[in-house]
Amino acid sequence: MAHQVVYPDKFAFIDQALAERSQTRRLRSLYPLYPEDAVYVLKQEQRLLNFSSNDYLGLSKHPLLIRAAQHYISQYGTGATASRLVAGTYDIHQQIEQKLAVACGREAALVFTSGFQANSTILVSLLDRQSLVLCDRLIHNSLIQGILASRATFIRYRHNDLNHLEELLKQAIDQSYSRILIVTETVFSMDGDRSNIDVLIQLAQQYNTILYLDDAHAVGVLGKNGMGLAAYHPEIDVVVGTFGKAFGSFGAFVTCSKKLRDYFINFCPGFIYTTALPPGVMGAIEAALELMPMLDQDRFQLSQNANHLCAQFQQIGYNIGASNSQIIPLYIGDEAKTLRLSQWLEEQGILAIAIRPPTVPSNTSRIRFALSSQHRSNQLDYLVHTIRSWHEH
Ligand SMILES: Cc1ncc(COP(=O)(O)O)c(C=O)c1O
Repeated sequence: MAHQVVYPDKFAFIDQALAERSQTRRLRSLYPLYPEDAVYVLKQEQRLLNFSSNDYLGLSKHPLLIRAAQHYISQYGTGATASRLVAGTYDIHQQIEQKLAVACGREAALVFTSGFQANSTILVSLLDRQSLVLCDRLIHNSLIQGILASRATFIRYRHNDLNHLEELLKQAIDQSYSRILIVTETVFSMDGDRSNIDVLIQLAQQYNTILYLDDAHAVGVLGKNGMGLAAYHPEIDVVVGTFGKAFGSFGAFVTCSKKLRDYFINFCPGFIYTTALPPGVMGAIEAALELMPMLDQDRFQLSQNANHLCAQFQQIGYNIGASNSQIIPLYIGDEAKTLRLSQWLEEQGILAIAIRPPTVPSNTSRIRFALSSQHRSNQLDYLVHTIRSWHEH
């Protein structure tokens, strides 16, 4: 009789990894929500005031976006059926890219399937093993993935410390790197503070480096007609924006020169080897793009909401760091305490997610409040009142 070989459990590493996450209170899980309107969600039977969505202008529920999505679905169908270079480029893809380039004051634009895909693959196409990347310590994971996959050397400068960046540039300039890229965000996703774009441009020019800015949390919210902080700056070589946040839809885009656009079409794997964005999504994007210049009042309301909340949190005694946008982190530090606060807020009818390592550095756990222009003053007052009760209990 054949002897049966007993193999070790090939998934033991998974048990171990999940157990470790559980022990350190970092285990994550999914739960379903139903989006009732721009600011309320239902979690099971409970109605929660949502302070964790990136739908900064409430556009995901806007009738014009919904109608435009339905219109393109009825005209073009539900899927784009192929990658852009095969049979997936429809007239609407190209028309919307042209409109985007104009709206951002740039030569060209190219649409991507998501911000994650854009960052993690554009960087691969721009870098090689002989390149150097100088990036802010707090950049988004999608950018890190692109840098790691490129196998370029990378050094992180201290968060928003452009003197440190310049020191690193000075050290790097005489070395034989094939090219140097500066990579950072305009509005930091977990801290809500901003980069100094003028100084970044000046440094990039002075040291002849490529400047790559992720404008995901500024697009729709800041800059001329809400097209982001990096719009209308042809000196910025590559700008990435997303449609899944203030645009209320899905997908992403890059604005750049025509030459770079041609290069990405030919060399960027995340553009080439994936199905084009579907017509319904393109419809919603186009409608949001057309609405953008008309939403100054909404953007003003959003900034008022943010200023009000920042002032109130600080008055209570909380540290909100250098937040200067619709993203307001309430720094707690300890993970367990941050989780308890998030849970308690939920019991009070508020959805505000705890952000913990590894998403943010150790001992900087926080509640990340993401505001919407659709939040009303009584809703903000309720949040402040609830936070104050927690602080005083
Ligand atoms: C700064 C930043 N860049 C990129 C992304 C990824 O964008 P997307 O959600 O479109 O994949 C996000 C969002 O998660 C982000 O915060």
